[in-house]
Amino acid sequence: MNDSTNLVDRITGHRRMRRNRKADWTRRLVQENRLTVDDLIWPIFIVPGNGIIDPIEAMPGVNRMSVDKAVEAAKEAADLGIPAIATFPNIDVALRDETGSHSLAPDNLINQATRAIKKAVPHIGVITDVALDPFTSHGHDGILRDGEIVNDETVEAIARAAVIQANAGSDIIAPSDMMDGRIGAIREALDASGHQSVGIMSYATKFASAFYGPYREAIGTGGLLKGDKKTYYIDPANGTEAIRDAALDVEEGADMLMVKPGLAYLDICWRMKEAFGLPVFAYQVSGEYTQIKAAAANGWIDGERVMLETLLAFKRAGCDGILTYFAVEAAKLLAKP
Ligand code: PBG
Repeated sequence: MNDSTNLVDRITGHRRMRRNRKADWTRRLVQENRLTVDDLIWPIFIVPGNGIIDPIEAMPGVNRMSVDKAVEAAKEAADLGIPAIATFPNIDVALRDETGSHSLAPDNLINQATRAIKKAVPHIGVITDVALDPFTSHGHDGILRDGEIVNDETVEAIARAAVIQANAGSDIIAPSDMMDGRIGAIREALDASGHQSVGIMSYATKFASAFYGPYREAIGTGGLLKGDKKTYYIDPANGTEAIRDAALDVEEGADMLMVKPGLAYLDICWRMKEAFGLPVFAYQVSGEYTQIKAAAANGWIDGERVMLETLLAFKRAGCDGILTYFAVEAAKLLAKP
């Protein structure tokens, strides 16, 4: 018999990591992070009309839905145990203007959707964005004057829009515009109008990313956008600046923080969770979703496994949850015994 275990153990010093990995039951026993349905927030796209389910070409499996269909989808999500949805409207181009004024209409598409969903499915959380991009004729998140996105005027507009969204029943206001001072202004406006229990999930660190491409197709801003968003979104090169920016949102009263995009910014998720201890969410954005779907459709990767692996990675990086277009698909898989 030629057993060389002793030789190996001289090297390992009897420290063998594989002992805990030897069987399914040991692996389950030592598993540090787990994805559950409670971690999922489902972003959905709303279009005007009735009975519409319109597939988004660049996001296979994702549809734009009219409000009635969105209500059905919200019901399905609630039945699966998904805690919350995030709504994004594709606004009629005729209603878009330089200042995004239609964002202040109490019965605009996003507010219609909130009312209908909260009425039919009261137990699902509704998270609404107050950025102006679905409403502006130039596709920017703020008001454009002489080639510049003007900060304070935009903040005033989105604080007003936040109150209108809260009046419609929104549970959490999520500003994705990255204007300075918006969190404090929204908090003050909500409190002044009696909406103390409406929360704020800050898109605290939103990077000037190329991963948003398919989303812009989904809400029809891609063709409109002039220039880029680098004067207000964060440079992907800057981690410390991102944490400073998030710190201001914490001071101004954010209840939850978000990192966007997700997978390429796991270091930011971790730093943010460590720095503030607030609930941290990652937004697995459209381009991230599409990459996985496209490779899976070609048979190049196992789409289901890659999906679950990426979602778990967010948990490992300290996230409390994930906004993901995979939410329903993942919830169904997680529900299997
Ligand atoms: C803009 C906004 C963006 C997304 C949601 N709201 C980015 C952008 O268009 O610049 C991206 C979401 C995604 O890519 O899934 N306020």
